[in-house]
Amino acid sequence: MIAPLLNRRSGPSPDRKSGPAERDWRQASAQELVEHIRHEHHDRIRERLPELVRLAQRVELVHAARPDCPRGLCAELAGLHAALHTHLKREERVLFPQLQMGLSPELAPLIAQMRSEHETQRDALGRIGHLTRDLALPEDACSSWEALVLDLRTLRDALEQSIRLEDEVLYQGLTAARTGGCSASGGGCACAGTAG
Ligand SMILES: [Fe+2]
Repeated sequence: MIAPLLNRRSGPSPDRKSGPAERDWRQASAQELVEHIRHEHHDRIRERLPELVRLAQRVELVHAARPDCPRGLCAELAGLHAALHTHLKREERVLFPQLQMGLSPELAPLIAQMRSEHETQRDALGRIGHLTRDLALPEDACSSWEALVLDLRTLRDALEQSIRLEDEVLYQGLTAARTGGCSASGGGCACAGTAG
């Protein structure tokens, strides 16, 4: 479960409010799901993080005297950036290609590691939510602060979505297969690659 500090009352992203109903990815092939995660979520995370670090640094510097200044946010984002750089690369270059070829029990340790890193990423999102008062936008926010909060909402949504799709759909098939069968009727969990 996402940390309570990240509830959406004060900061839903526009695409979360008005976007089309999400596809049921349990019905998709592993290849389709991997492509979706890479292009819709991982790429968005990679695009946003460097600029977010710069924006946080600027806001912390300019607004240091304000009580609602998100002190420590730049360091938190820099740490998340470094961790995600390694995590996303390992998924895209090692794990995803193997999953697309078929599910294998040998992948279990790597999947367990990815799941553990997801928990660390959720913890980081929780701390970021705390530092920013749940990604609240001050009424008198300058343009940098506004861009920071809006981009943080996009980052949070992309990271939460990728973690959910990986943990609950793409990686879920391994657990199901090892315990006697997969409940997914499609190939999204990667079980399709081992059938027949
Ligand atoms: Fe991941």
